[in-house]
Amino acid sequence: MSGFPIVEVTVYPYECDAFGHLNQAACLQLLERARWEALARGPGVDLFHRNGVWPAARRTVIEYRASALPGDRLRVETLALERGTTSFTLRHRAVRTRDDTIIAEADLVFVCVDRLGRVVPIPEELGRVLAVPRGGKEAQRIAVEGSELTVEVRGNGPALLLVHGYPLDRTLWRHQLPAFARWRRIAPDLRGFGASRGAALPPGGGMQRYADDLVAILDRCEVDGAVCCGLSMGGYILFELLRRHPERVRGLVLMDTKAGVDAPEVKRARDESAALAARDGAGAIAERMLPKLLSAATVETQPETVAAVRKMMGRASVEGIVAALQAMRDRPDSRPQLANIAVPTLVVCGAEDSLTPPGEMQAIAAAVRGARYVEIASAAHLTPLEQPLAVNRALTEFLTGLE
Ligand code: MLT
Repeated sequence: MSGFPIVEVTVYPYECDAFGHLNQAACLQLLERARWEALARGPGVDLFHRNGVWPAARRTVIEYRASALPGDRLRVETLALERGTTSFTLRHRAVRTRDDTIIAEADLVFVCVDRLGRVVPIPEELGRVLAVPRGGKEAQRIAVEGSELTVEVRGNGPALLLVHGYPLDRTLWRHQLPAFARWRRIAPDLRGFGASRGAALPPGGGMQRYADDLVAILDRCEVDGAVCCGLSMGGYILFELLRRHPERVRGLVLMDTKAGVDAPEVKRARDESAALAARDGAGAIAERMLPKLLSAATVETQPETVAAVRKMMGRASVEGIVAALQAMRDRPDSRPQLANIAVPTLVVCGAEDSLTPPGEMQAIAAAVRGARYVEIASAAHLTPLEQPLAVNRALTEFLTGLE
């Protein structure tokens, strides 16, 4: 727990819109008011002045869950979620006191700056107030079969394993890792990708090796079973995990993936891409893939996402790319297995995904007993990066039933 007391605030008429509901901007202000009130009652407002630092808000993700009216009393909890060297994340939850309805939840990332606006380390005293172990965000290194896998583990609770696609890495989940505070989020860089080092895949390794790596990671984290979420190639790996180690999967999220095998022309294209990677490197693959991964809206309005995806693909090793292409080319047909999936399943697809189109994902959802299908507007293949709020909402609803 962090050292912030819970405070109550009243919704004022001037904070409401024409229909009399608390408006979005005012809701954010109300959370800020509550945060200052909590600071005043707790560690004291001069905490920052005393230490010569200021918390500058870097990012806010807010979810408006229900409307509130003038006169409503809201109980605002403030929880420190994470602490890095210079930044920390706070979560606010505003709950109506009369009926315990959650009105809004917000995660805010702050970075400490000095009087000249330079980013500085979190002072000792603030660190004590936050009361979150330092370095919770840092990645672990796990040695498995000739490779050293980099795995980011955050939080405590039931396990949520996040498996990225090709040719990406764990930063695909940058908006999911800070969320789901009641879950232990585990996001590896698959072998050959991101910051993982060593052998990409042993010869003929294929999907089995990736699936066994996930088991090794769960073992190392002392997790028996996890809710497993995989995007695209991450989904192919989860089908393999289900075939080899079904007992480790207690829930399944399939994002922008497919169950069938590659058509002959796709297999040929995989071999061409492998030759391109060997000749011109990961950058050439990134330029070829980029136009297919993101929606027009993302390209137009989120230049930072485009840059992050390009950078992420550029980090992949050539051996990793070649090995993944071979593993995907040779993967077995997972369609016959869909009817046997016996764990709660959520299927998520970007409405503009042309690589794993909605029709194909709807067919997966129809074939898995009880599966829920959610389509994400204004997203193509990388839905968790492109539309994090909508994806996190779908995940939250799904996970709530599984805690
Ligand atoms: C991925 O995102 O993992 C790839 O697009 C999957 C594929 O090429 O089949």
